[in-house]
Amino acid sequence: MTSSASPFDPKKTIVSKKWFEDQRKFPVVDLDKVNFPPDEWTGHRVDMSSIPFGHAFNRDALKTAVKFIEAETKPESLRMHDVGGNLRKVWEEPQTKVENEIGMNYLTYPELLSKDLASKDKRSDNMEWAQEYNNVYDKHLSIPVPFVLKSFERKKEASPTDEKKVEGQVQAMKIMFKASGSAQKIAERFTKAAQEGAQIKKIVGFGLGSVKWDKLCGEEDEVKEQNAGFQRIWQHFTAFCIADALTRVYCETDKKVEIVLQDPCYTATDKKFLAKHSPVRISFVRDPKGILQVDSETLVMTAFLPFDVPMPSIIADLFHGQKGPAGFIWDKMILDEDKKLWRAADRATPRVVEMLKGYTRDDFDDHDIEWEVFDKVCRRLPYWLWAMDLFLRKP
Ligand SMILES: C[S@@+](CC[C@H](N)C(=O)[O-])C[C@H]1O[C@@H](n2cnc3c(N)ncnc32)[C@H](O)[C@@H]1O
Repeated sequence: MTSSASPFDPKKTIVSKKWFEDQRKFPVVDLDKVNFPPDEWTGHRVDMSSIPFGHAFNRDALKTAVKFIEAETKPESLRMHDVGGNLRKVWEEPQTKVENEIGMNYLTYPELLSKDLASKDKRSDNMEWAQEYNNVYDKHLSIPVPFVLKSFERKKEASPTDEKKVEGQVQAMKIMFKASGSAQKIAERFTKAAQEGAQIKKIVGFGLGSVKWDKLCGEEDEVKEQNAGFQRIWQHFTAFCIADALTRVYCETDKKVEIVLQDPCYTATDKKFLAKHSPVRISFVRDPKGILQVDSETLVMTAFLPFDVPMPSIIADLFHGQKGPAGFIWDKMILDEDKKLWRAADRATPRVVEMLKGYTRDDFDDHDIEWEVFDKVCRRLPYWLWAMDLFLRKP
């Protein structure tokens, strides 16, 4: 492991979000100011003052996808209704079969609503696939399907030497996490929530990432990659800490907490180490099974999902008019009821804003971290929880 000098003051013992922002001279999150180019699909603003159709993301469509993905023999193509009610192809057998997995590739609400996002200069890869499957690639016609299926190559397994390194890192992180003030605050927050009646039986984590840090896969910026890898381990320990705190409160009842994790990049090594350290039953599922497992007693956890995995919109659609999940830890979003124009990079939509009205909102901004944690886990990256919010369903 290469160690480079930390750019910050090593005499400090505690690092706050504010100190980090002052040093780096940029806010950890200021989504409105993030300059996603308006001529790209992430930054293009779309009027969502009235979402004119039913629910793009629904359980039947997701269940059809699960059935298709799990089927041993697959049809040459699969069709589904788009948001306008037209039957569209969402899968076509690839000409060459080099890939070994089939994945969900979602379209975001701005893409489902705006024809502009079908044009060659603005469209996302997923819109391109939808067009390609439906033979309109050159015509730039919008194919507003909630997702397309596409094959991809599974992440390579770790070598035995890599596994040993990963084991060492996970152990080191575990010790550091357990001793940290942030872990203590997380445990206290969820103990209080459970004592006040929050019913959380399941934690479903989306995209918490591989615990195997990516330098092992040949990334360039070694220190930054290592920090990102450590934060991913830290995110999993956060889920474990919450599960542990809830289990302690519920111990006198027959309620059992479990963890379900969905990330297409998990390898056998990830699953092995995560299962080893989880204090509760843990399972790993393929997309979209994790989404289908979310229920009203679930805490949903995501962190920095790609914009083309629009989890808040998917959940808001699935639970529209019903009791939503017990809570969420996910990226901060601007939840402005009067906002008219929305970008895929906003993650939220008016329907997400409406759903979250039934929740209390909290953040983790007061989670100061020990210098040792900062030096090992952050450095140039902010502490991940500073960019997250916590929503708990109101009783
Ligand atoms: C930018 S990384 C963030 C990883 C980690 N949370 C972190 O903070 O470093 C996005 C993660 O989302 C995962 N991902 C992509 N599509 C996903 C999906 N449909 N469901 C769950 N995870 C997904 C990726 O494999 C990757 O691990």
